[in-house]
Amino acid sequence: MTPVLYRVEARHQELADTVTIRIAPIAGQLADPKPGQFEMLLAFGVGEVPISISGLGNGSGELEHTIRSVGAVTKALCTTAVGDVIGVRGPFGVGWDLDRATGHDLLIVAGGLGLAPLRPAMLEALTNRHRFGRLVLLVGARDPGSLMFVRELEQWRGRFDIDVAVTVDAAPPSWRGDVGVVTKLLSRAPVDFGNTTAVVCGPEVMMRFVAAGLADRGVPPGQILLSMERNMRCAIGHCGHCQLGPEFVCKDGPVFPWDRMEKLMLVRER
Ligand SMILES: Cc1cc2nc3c(=O)[nH]c(=O)nc-3n(C[C@H](O)[C@H](O)[C@H](O)COP(=O)(O)OP(=O)(O)OC[C@H]3O[C@@H](n4cnc5c(N)ncnc54)[C@H](O)[C@@H]3O)c2cc1C
Ligand code: FES
Repeated sequence: MTPVLYRVEARHQELADTVTIRIAPIAGQLADPKPGQFEMLLAFGVGEVPISISGLGNGSGELEHTIRSVGAVTKALCTTAVGDVIGVRGPFGVGWDLDRATGHDLLIVAGGLGLAPLRPAMLEALTNRHRFGRLVLLVGARDPGSLMFVRELEQWRGRFDIDVAVTVDAAPPSWRGDVGVVTKLLSRAPVDFGNTTAVVCGPEVMMRFVAAGLADRGVPPGQILLSMERNMRCAIGHCGHCQLGPEFVCKDGPVFPWDRMEKLMLVRER
């Protein structure tokens, strides 16, 4: 699949090392993605990396990606200016299956940058609010300065039809919220655990503890959905770079239910 050219329309510095870019197709357009899917973003002359979709253009063809600068390619993408052109392939993979959550409580649990791939799921749940029972968002971050999408978090917090709780690992005395890891919020989540679908994204260790904690509280393992990250090259199930046991993270995932991931998450990345 050849990359399609997209222009950077807007950029927002979320954190010192994290940027959200909004991109629009120049000519030709990729299929509309679903929440939880990812795309391969190409920085010309540098390389290509998988990045989740953090905002959907609602048919306009525009897309948002939230990128943390950790190496050569992500640095090049984070330093693009408005008007710059990048290549995009996708959308790839299986997204959040929100149909599973219809008629259930929906619990969204994000750790750090994990809020980015969950943001389209949250927005879709808010658009179709009537389909779900309780809607609960739990967010964990390193410290208050590491919180992303702060304006939206504040808006969501002000609504009567969702419950939002935010916790940080460490905070200055001025912080009035919770302190501690996000798993500490699970016991207080106002959901009926036996009738809940959970969507979880964050560092692997965080997802393991959250998934185990939810399963202990009675959430069926097939109703706990996690988004996995593995090295990728082709993104279409050919090269084997992303293989995890029998699963190809690029095409069978990146979203998997906990009953398929519990043992595989112990497999080290190659
Ligand atoms: C399905 C999927 C979705 C993803 N979605 C996003 C997203 O929405 N936003 C985003 O910023 N990243 C996302 N990533 C991770 C992103 O693809 C990697 O950060 C990127 O490939 C690193 O490439 P690089 O060339 O910049 O760094 P490299 O030169 O490959 O790596 C530089 C260093 O950073 C380390 N590193 C690599 N990935 C990460 C990481 N995720 N966090 C911390 N350290 C890392 C490497 O081990 C290495 O030490 C996703 C990955 C997958 C598989
Ligand atoms: S990235 Fe090539 S098989 Fe998944």
